[in-house]
Amino acid sequence: MCGIIGFTGQAPALSFLLDGLRRMEYRGYDSAGVALCGASGDRLDIRRAVGNVSELEKAVAENPPDRSARCGIGHTRWATHGAPSERNAHPHVSPSGKIAIVHNGIIDNFAELKARLAATGHVFNSDTDSEVLAHLVEEAAGNTLAEKVMAALTPVRGTYGIAVVSCDWPGVIVVARKGSPIAVGIAGSAAMVASDPAALAGRAERVAYLDDGDVAILTPGSFEVRSLANTPVDRPASPLDIDPAAVEKGGFEHFMLKEIFEQPEALENCLRGRLLPDEGTAKLSGLRLGPREMASLCNIVVTACGTSYYAGLHGVYAFEQFAGIPSRIEQAAEFRYRNPIVSPDTALVSLSQSGETADTLAAVREAKRKGALVLSICNVVGSTIAREAGRGVYLHAGPEIGVASTKAFLCQVAALEMMALLLGRTRRLSGAEGAIVVKALESTPELVRAVLAQNDRIATIAEKYASANDAFFIGRGYQYPAALEGALKLKEISYVHAEGYHAAELKHGPIALLEPAVPVVALAPQGPEHDKTLANIQECRARSAPVVAIATESDPAIRAFTEDIIEVPPCPDFIAAVPVVVAEQLFAYHVARLRGEPIDRPRNLAKSVTVE
Ligand code: G6P
Repeated sequence: MCGIIGFTGQAPALSFLLDGLRRMEYRGYDSAGVALCGASGDRLDIRRAVGNVSELEKAVAENPPDRSARCGIGHTRWATHGAPSERNAHPHVSPSGKIAIVHNGIIDNFAELKARLAATGHVFNSDTDSEVLAHLVEEAAGNTLAEKVMAALTPVRGTYGIAVVSCDWPGVIVVARKGSPIAVGIAGSAAMVASDPAALAGRAERVAYLDDGDVAILTPGSFEVRSLANTPVDRPASPLDIDPAAVEKGGFEHFMLKEIFEQPEALENCLRGRLLPDEGTAKLSGLRLGPREMASLCNIVVTACGTSYYAGLHGVYAFEQFAGIPSRIEQAAEFRYRNPIVSPDTALVSLSQSGETADTLAAVREAKRKGALVLSICNVVGSTIAREAGRGVYLHAGPEIGVASTKAFLCQVAALEMMALLLGRTRRLSGAEGAIVVKALESTPELVRAVLAQNDRIATIAEKYASANDAFFIGRGYQYPAALEGALKLKEISYVHAEGYHAAELKHGPIALLEPAVPVVALAPQGPEHDKTLANIQECRARSAPVVAIATESDPAIRAFTEDIIEVPPCPDFIAAVPVVVAEQLFAYHVARLRGEPIDRPRNLAKSVTVE
């Protein structure tokens, strides 16, 4: 949520900042801006624009700033306080115009701080909470910009990732973090900062991740990290292991489509070295759990938001099926405030693609406080949740840029099944049974390829339904979480109102909404409840609702209900969600494309939600 970028070095900063903002646009895209600090230090050049980064580029072309400036900061915004407008776009400047600041997060006590400043004559030019920070820094005492920032942050409550420049200290960027991610990097004579390390791929040689309470001071070619109390802090920098090509579209029309097509490889990377076919189990070293600890777990609580939540629900089914451990899922946003019951024999499994989602992070902290064993499943290496949990599984899915999560979901399902398998083998699952799970997991890349091969057919089916205003997704068993995820994908990117339901629940209310204009996407691969799902499809057809079926290849029964069938290869029910969800992703993608929606940057959404 909100992208922050900064550069100081011997080369012009502007192109670096604009490129970094483009890479982080998925974090927020309702306005963008840059502040450049020239070597002479006589003024800051600010350019801001409503809309995405291309609008900022136009503003820069129409009114060129000092292109030779070698230090600057930039921001791409996801509005919280104040509508998307140029006056609310970052950077925000101090009253003298000498200090500029970009901010990600929410200042909880901004109203109180603003009133206090206004009483002493401060005039504000935006409706944002962030602007008070620029005023506070200017007011604060200090001999250096860093000292002023540290002093300014003392009365601040809330969350922030900030970057600050001042023409009184040309070439210096001060950054600080509390609750919003910040990575700092160096390369030769340059130092750089970003709220997402992917923005530094191919640019930084080494990066370090700030912790809450850290302040970093960047100067050309180096950075030092200090605490808010101005004592040195050691944050070692390590090489950045992100392929720059992974953050480009690579010939695809959208990141989302590229990421859907990357899924076989993402799964291979996620599974690599972790399956032990001979022993019928999995190896997840990052959990750092021995068999005795695993065997002593009495229950599992899974927590997450959005798409990760639906993957988590799949995990609950697998934990109970393979390991026989009582398991439940909880919305991360609910977990902290509900005062949930967890104990030392509870494992809290948190799922987050970004590893930065505020609600999930809060749940992790609450579970730690209550003494649970906290495990994380994250995609972004070094992310806050992964570091705070300390134990877990990285997905290795590669950077996910499209706002709607795709490859992370599939890899989360794979990671959860591996975890369930591992736990199951400390309990009731035999080696032979475990080997079946291993084999099924090994087959997932091929299952996905079989669906990707039907892309054109799925596009044709999508044409028939692209003008629908409402849709239902139904499934049973492992297909229930898949139905929820399918509906979410369609809502997120096509803005079609869609609801995911357990196939049996439809008749308890929502069936009243069925009519010829309301399609039902029925998830009906072979499995223990196949016949029951067919009966539910029959109920939909009896109400004249058209049906799109996602079913096992050559299933004769399904043809009685519809000709719009997307086929998945035969596979065990506990893994069938993998190909089924890929079919749903492509269906949602094509509906959104045909409706002309901005697929990678759906309205009102952001990729990484770092506010509660
Ligand atoms: C946002 C995104 C969703 C995502 C959710 C959880 O709402 O728009 O696509 O599923 O956050 O994100 P996480 O990074 O924690 O998986």
